Amino acid sequence: MTTIKFRHTLTLNLLLMIVISFFGTLAVMIFFAKMDIFINPNGSVLQAGLLLTFWFFIVIITFIVIFSLLVRKKIRYLRNITETVQHIANGKLGLTIDIKGKDELSQLAENINFMSKELENKFIHERQLEKVKNELITNISHDLRTPLTSIIGYLNLIKNGQYENKDQRQEYFETIYSKSHRLKHLINELFEFSRLSSPDVQLTLSEVDLPSLLHQIVGEYTPIFEEEQLNVQKSITDENIPVLIDVEKMVRVYENLFMNAIKYSIKRSDIRISFNTLDNTAILKVSNRVENPPVEDVNKLFERFFRGDRARIDAQGTGLGLSISKRIVDLHNGKIHAEYKDGWIIFIVEHPIFKK
Ligand SMILES: Nc1ncnc2c1ncn2[C@@H]1O[C@H](COP(=O)(O)OP(=O)(O)O)[C@@H](O)[C@H]1O
Ligand SMILES: [Mg+2]
Repeated sequence: MTTIKFRHTLTLNLLLMIVISFFGTLAVMIFFAKMDIFINPNGSVLQAGLLLTFWFFIVIITFIVIFSLLVRKKIRYLRNITETVQHIANGKLGLTIDIKGKDELSQLAENINFMSKELENKFIHERQLEKVKNELITNISHDLRTPLTSIIGYLNLIKNGQYENKDQRQEYFETIYSKSHRLKHLINELFEFSRLSSPDVQLTLSEVDLPSLLHQIVGEYTPIFEEEQLNVQKSITDENIPVLIDVEKMVRVYENLFMNAIKYSIKRSDIRISFNTLDNTAILKVSNRVENPPVEDVNKLFERFFRGDRARIDAQGTGLGLSISKRIVDLHNGKIHAEYKDGWIIFIVEHPIFKK
């Protein structure tokens, strides 16, 4: 929004119009005086009084006519502004007024235009949020219903004694148990996702040496990598690289990347974990082998509820892990993205290095 310098332009304009109207009226009166028709010298006092009153009205009307002619553009503009404001108030957000001249009225019009655009943007944003929320609820309901239906189904079989022997009943219990875990996992992820989506989410920042933290997490995951027949090629710098992070949240990001690599990699293959720095940025790369990329544009994997075929078939994933990770990395002013090259999918996390 801009503010004009001449704040009293409109007052000055009006004063000028009054002066012009005054001189205009004077000119008209001089014209009549020259024609010698002001006073009838032979008339009575009453006649003289009436005549004076008549001319007095002529003066006033002449003044009003000239002034109205001069001011009519401004009045029309003011009416235009009033009508537009009324339309905006009735819901036509985004409507604007043409800017004419450079006075308080044009300033008013500019401010109204700004307000109208702001309201429109807010309205569009709200509508988008509403849409996202509705989509979220639909997805959540669907995802929660699936394991719950199966839990109820198996419980019903047990309740009605519809099993052949103890072993089958035990099998049902185990399915119920694993579905309940799936439900718990889903609810946890949803909770985390909605908590992190809030605009006023707080980070508990502390200074950490990132290579040490990564060595530690990779160490914890090594038995799982081995169990899944994945050979880890680790290349993490031994330098001290301080970063300012919310440890709990960033560990979640790293763990999600490692778990994804374990879940979605070709089995009996390599997993590469590399960490180095470039300028003021710490860069972590986690790569694993895949037969085909899950989608053409691998950055779609960061969209919420996106699940590749494997995750859907195994009913393992929630499709929230990477979108939660992206949100966390964004909150840290970092970047996360994915690349696909020659049978390798690479997840890259960039983080600013902390300088004291
Ligand atoms: N390392 C990876 N290799 C291959 N595909 C992956 C990898 N990480 C993620 N994906 C794909 O991206 C999808 C979304 O991942 P994510 O958001 O973590 O959700 P989830 O793991 O719960 O399915 C996965 O379903 C999978 O198809
Ligand atoms: Mg995941």
